[in-house]
Amino acid sequence: MIQGRENLVSQTQWQLNELMPMSDAEYALWLSLLEERTGITLPELRKSFLLSKLSIRMQELGINQYKSYFAYVTHGKAGRVEWETLVDRLTVHETRFFRDTQALSFIKQAYLEKLSLDNNNSNIHIWSVGCATGEEPFSLMMYIDKYITDKNEKCYLSVTASDISHDALAVGKKARYHKNRFTNVPVDYMDHYLEDADDDHYLVNDSLRKRICFNRLNLLELQKSSVGKMDIIICQNVLIYFKRETRLAILNQLVKHLVPGGLLILGAGEITGWNNPDMNSMKHDGVLAFQYNPAATEDMQKQRYDA
Ligand SMILES: C[S@@+](CC[C@H](N)C(=O)[O-])C[C@H]1O[C@@H](n2cnc3c(N)ncnc32)[C@H](O)[C@@H]1O
Repeated sequence: MIQGRENLVSQTQWQLNELMPMSDAEYALWLSLLEERTGITLPELRKSFLLSKLSIRMQELGINQYKSYFAYVTHGKAGRVEWETLVDRLTVHETRFFRDTQALSFIKQAYLEKLSLDNNNSNIHIWSVGCATGEEPFSLMMYIDKYITDKNEKCYLSVTASDISHDALAVGKKARYHKNRFTNVPVDYMDHYLEDADDDHYLVNDSLRKRICFNRLNLLELQKSSVGKMDIIICQNVLIYFKRETRLAILNQLVKHLVPGGLLILGAGEITGWNNPDMNSMKHDGVLAFQYNPAATEDMQKQRYDA
């Protein structure tokens, strides 16, 4: 056992030692390409991550110099196609079903429990931004659909799930996951929303699958997006990869996709000191959330005008 582990460590070190070195100037070029096209910044410590991902891909293509691969990725139609593959390799898709149960209970308290008071609300539109392989949007759907069904609310739920990575989205579209991915999911949700695909996998059932739309969307291109107005936008564990100015620009764009009263839910600690005059910060344990309240700005403008 110990012998095996030592072998594994020395094999990994051997592979890392085998990585071709990259000069600081060349590393800076790759970083600025990545940031310019995706917003993602890699701290210095992640140089080994970049080198290993590039090396694996270059090996697959039979390219043996970073310089040649850089030229390949940045030129012509083939370069654009190759870039999509590289982005899939360089983005972190770590996610889980029912990852943030505090955010779910916040949605229940701040939104779902108010539904029956609001007779006009017959549709709930949700957007999972940076949805990775789909566990986040499917968790939201299970949680909200079960609430609506149990309370006999007359609402139609639809979910938009977007990400920059084609590979991640393809997993979500299949909606087929290994059974060990569901350890966090309460049994009554599993009974309601999952079917056996085979001995090892579950398939999310058709009733949820037909109400979710997976879309490729780069957060740096939000201005061009055709996504409509949402009741709830959830963007968790995504902004952490961007620098502060980029985070703020993305948040201010997301606000434009909320209906009045709509909620924007972020990962705890994902932004500090964001002051958008149309957004009210909301308090709930372990949750960073804001409500779109454009009336507050209109009132202030009116007061200034009247004064
Ligand atoms: C760590 S996952 C978060 C998944 C999920 N939101 C969660 O909290 O479990 C981050 C996701 O952000 C996506 N991402 C990174 N940069 C992006 C960009 N510029 N536009 C859209 N998605 C991006 C990645 O592809 C990845 O799937």
